[in-house]
Amino acid sequence: MAEVIIVPDATEGGRVAAGLIAALVQANPRAVLGLATGSTPLTTWEALEPLALDLTEVAAFALDEYIGLPVGHPESYRSVITREVVERLGMTPELVHVPSYDGDPETAGEKYEAAIRAAGGVDLQILGIGRTGHIGFNEPGSSLASLTRVKALTRMTREDNARFFPSIDDVPVHCITQGLGTILRARRLVLLAFGSSKASALAKSVEGPVSSGHPGSVIQLHPDVVVIADEAAASELEHAEYYRFAWENHFNVG
Ligand code: GLP
Repeated sequence: MAEVIIVPDATEGGRVAAGLIAALVQANPRAVLGLATGSTPLTTWEALEPLALDLTEVAAFALDEYIGLPVGHPESYRSVITREVVERLGMTPELVHVPSYDGDPETAGEKYEAAIRAAGGVDLQILGIGRTGHIGFNEPGSSLASLTRVKALTRMTREDNARFFPSIDDVPVHCITQGLGTILRARRLVLLAFGSSKASALAKSVEGPVSSGHPGSVIQLHPDVVVIADEAAASELEHAEYYRFAWENHFNVG
């Protein structure tokens, strides 16, 4: 079962997630992190900064990238990861990978999968969730076994991400994203959800039926999942009281 940790706000959620990353890196300075973009992980990067960990040997793989933005576009996920994570936390740019479309839909994904394998796999994958239930950019209908590939975005996701662009028409239609099967191979998943707009998507992910119709529900197939949600995002969880009790009484308190 997932460990569901309900926190007062996104700041505290970021501190908890940063603590998990810090423990991993302290145990293994060559750990492999899975990075997510979007607004949700920002408090995690903020909380990591003052810890001043040595991340120079840590490798990282981002979940996804838009297709069609010019190289260096400030909203490309390569730029966002460089700005928000690599530069801020002193990571080594050559060790930080973001998927990119190489013009061939058949091979672009396989190259990224091979790079993840060559690095020994992802130790800890940070995840946000979209209102459609997407993790990475795996929109409804994504195979639960899918690997890195090209996808089209839903209208809802493009509307949500239009806040980063002049208009929705400027939001790319296509992306390249790790698949749900890729994400399941990470050794630990840490799913973050903050705010009431995520409440329904989070409840379906944690408690709903496992279904490609709600991609976030794939986390139920993983043996080591930590869900960190603020009160608003946790508000539709049927078993919230139990999760609080279980966390307050969790084994190996540390
Ligand atoms: C984006 C990203 C996801 C992210 C999600 C939620 O489109 N591809 O990786 O988790 O949508 O974004 P936000 O955290 O900004 O709500």
